[in-house]
Amino acid sequence: KQTDNQLIIDAGQKQFGATTCGSCGMLYSTDSPEDNFQHTQFHQRFLDTIKFVGWKKERVVAEFWDGKIILVLPDDPKYATKKAEDVRRIADTELGFQQITLSSPSSAKTYLFINSDRMVVGCLVAENVRQQEKPKDMNKEDFMEHHRAWCCSTVPEKAICGVSRIWVFSLMRRKSIATRLLDTARTTFMYGSHLTKEEIAFSDPTPEGKLFATKYCET
Ligand code: ACO
Ligand code: ZN
Repeated sequence: KQTDNQLIIDAGQKQFGATTCGSCGMLYSTDSPEDNFQHTQFHQRFLDTIKFVGWKKERVVAEFWDGKIILVLPDDPKYATKKAEDVRRIADTELGFQQITLSSPSSAKTYLFINSDRMVVGCLVAENVRQQEKPKDMNKEDFMEHHRAWCCSTVPEKAICGVSRIWVFSLMRRKSIATRLLDTARTTFMYGSHLTKEEIAFSDPTPEGKLFATKYCET
């Protein structure tokens, strides 16, 4: 999938000693002592955070040849909620969120994708969407803009499940991990019911998040 453009960028980065660490995914300049220092600081902490040692009780909600998805609920044991929170913090840092307050922490469900190397390489946080009526005189675009949400649906007020975070480890992207997290959330978010794509809303999506959501919703 490498384009000519990408090759030019890579060539440019090599000139300045830019490297992507093959373990933690950080892009830094090997020529810069400051960058090297920051990388050393980041590297181990990151790998420790995404390391998954296995739990006595795991709520496995999906299994694949290259990993599994476990669901963490707010009332789960501390070791589980702490891991979910730590991974969420990594995602938030990458997303540039400063102060992270979940809109309804007591209902937040965290889905973690664990790969066969026992690393948490994906995370999805889903929350109940408070049913909000679209005012009659407001069009869909304005309503969505107002709520900073991106819905699969053309009827945004129908959403039930809000995806407030979706993140995949940079070195593991484009392997359908986000797709599988979302598919799994749709079947397990509401007990006994399979949510349609129209019932999902992405809150405050990034450009990458929009590209993903657009693709996901049309397929
Ligand atoms: N550019 C263009 N299309 C994309 C991109 C992208 N960066 N990412 C996904 N897509 C589209 C593609 O069509 C892709 O299918 P393909 O690979 O066969 O072409 C399809 O979406 C499915 O992609 P997945 O492999 O399932 O997505 P991935 O596991 O790579 O995760 C994600 C996507 C979560 C957006 C990831 O890039 C990421 O973590 N980015 C940084 C964090 C972020 O921006 N998250 C979204 C925030 S919005 C929110 O949280 C509500
Ligand atoms: Zn590294």
